Amino acid sequence: MSQKKDNFGIEKILKNLGISTENNGVSTGGNYFANGDFLESYSPTDGQLIAKVKTANTQDYQKVVETAKAAFKEFRMIPAPKRGELVRQFGLKLREYKDDLGKLVSYEMGKSLQEGLGEVQEMIDICDFAVGLSRQLHGYTMHSERPGHRMYEQYHPLGIVGIISAFNFPVAVWSWNTALALICGNVTIWKPSEKTPLCGIACQNILSEVLKENNLPEGISSMIVGDHEIGDQLVKDKNVALVSFTGSTKVGRIVGKNVAERFGKSILELGGNNAIIITENADLDMSIIGAVFGAVGTAGQRCTSTRRLIIHESVYDEVKNRLAKAYGQLKIGNPLDENNHVGPLIDKDAVNQYLNSIEKCKAEGGKFAVEGGVLDGEQYESGCYVKPCIAEVENSYEIVQHETFAPILYIMKYKNLEEAIEIQNDVPQGLSSAIMTQNLREAELFLSQAGSDCGIANVNIGTSGAEIGGAFGGEKETGGGRESGSDVWKYYMRRQTNTINYTTSLPLAQGIKFDL
Ligand code: UN1
Repeated sequence: MSQKKDNFGIEKILKNLGISTENNGVSTGGNYFANGDFLESYSPTDGQLIAKVKTANTQDYQKVVETAKAAFKEFRMIPAPKRGELVRQFGLKLREYKDDLGKLVSYEMGKSLQEGLGEVQEMIDICDFAVGLSRQLHGYTMHSERPGHRMYEQYHPLGIVGIISAFNFPVAVWSWNTALALICGNVTIWKPSEKTPLCGIACQNILSEVLKENNLPEGISSMIVGDHEIGDQLVKDKNVALVSFTGSTKVGRIVGKNVAERFGKSILELGGNNAIIITENADLDMSIIGAVFGAVGTAGQRCTSTRRLIIHESVYDEVKNRLAKAYGQLKIGNPLDENNHVGPLIDKDAVNQYLNSIEKCKAEGGKFAVEGGVLDGEQYESGCYVKPCIAEVENSYEIVQHETFAPILYIMKYKNLEEAIEIQNDVPQGLSSAIMTQNLREAELFLSQAGSDCGIANVNIGTSGAEIGGAFGGEKETGGGRESGSDVWKYYMRRQTNTINYTTSLPLAQGIKFDL
């Protein structure tokens, strides 16, 4: 590591966000329930140590849970629209901090500044969405089969919602869960990724300010920083009614099993292996932009990143050549410099996985139309900058069936659309998918029950960049969970059916007679 530089004014940003460079305890605000070891956060952009964070140990976790339980008793009694008001104020605060938080996301995670700011915008958007929703948490009313009876259903808060989020969207995914959990009357305990703990502290500080200003207990929103052991404690804790987990399929499989074993609820948002089908009727200009952004945006580290292109044989060579040309123009470098398109991978482990995947792909017969590699030189001193690459493959290759969180794009040919859809679906994951076509029949077939099997299926839009208003998540090994928009709030509440008898007799349902 070279001598410490502060090219991006990061020290001022940290100060504005209430983060100390030496010692951050993280907890339910005022009391610091963090007595474990220090965790160091390094920037993948320049390899510099940004700050140290105290982790939580087992006893700290217990204290956090007790504080959260007490806060829930108070918070659940606040009417939903008033809880919405709290989230409205949180959204306003996020607007104030957008610039600083976006820069921190970019510096700690390594995504471009545009994308860092875009991520904070997603937070603001979900707050606005949740505010409106706080007046719409409605259930159905049904007709009772018994005279003088009224039957309806209502939704109540669950209790503690545990949120385990990944490094790649270090703030937005927490906010999707938190904004909904809060309007639904829950309290939250968040375990952010160990790779981006400072983004976690910043968010926690912003929400704490709002809670303080409203004289509400800070235990409404708690955070624990730590490794998988503390995560495991949260997952297995029967006090945690819902665990929302975003991360790999490998870990999600364990989380899902452990939560199910104690009959808890879970939302699993796991790996994707997203494809764009480019048909002979596609607008190729749009297709190239969609494919390149989908594959190299966030350095291929979105769960929605485009990993595969399934291209009609008649346009295959043209698409391949145009992609190679576009890749040749990509600027790779510091993500805080707005001229760069692609930032670094999150750490050296990710770089090794990228290199291993390239090796495996070659061993299976993949031919690289655009070669990969690790970049060196002074501006790439963190060692985490890699070249986005493109490989010609068969869908059946083991490596193609696997999600590598890196900018490796696999391309393959097809003859007819049914075959393309089969290829698109023939992977274990089912998150996002897209078709590029100007032909209505092709688009509708892709969206039909015989089409894409993914949770997200787009026409003339790439696979990434979903809006918060829709339900976000996918099928198969993606885990089946849904987060953010639509009626996803129902996951964060328990449903209760109520029948009220306003007569003077007690008729039984199903015509049963029980006279005494
Ligand atoms: C993720 O990568 O975990 O659709 C979330 C997108 C973003 C969210 C991605 N809105 O690409």
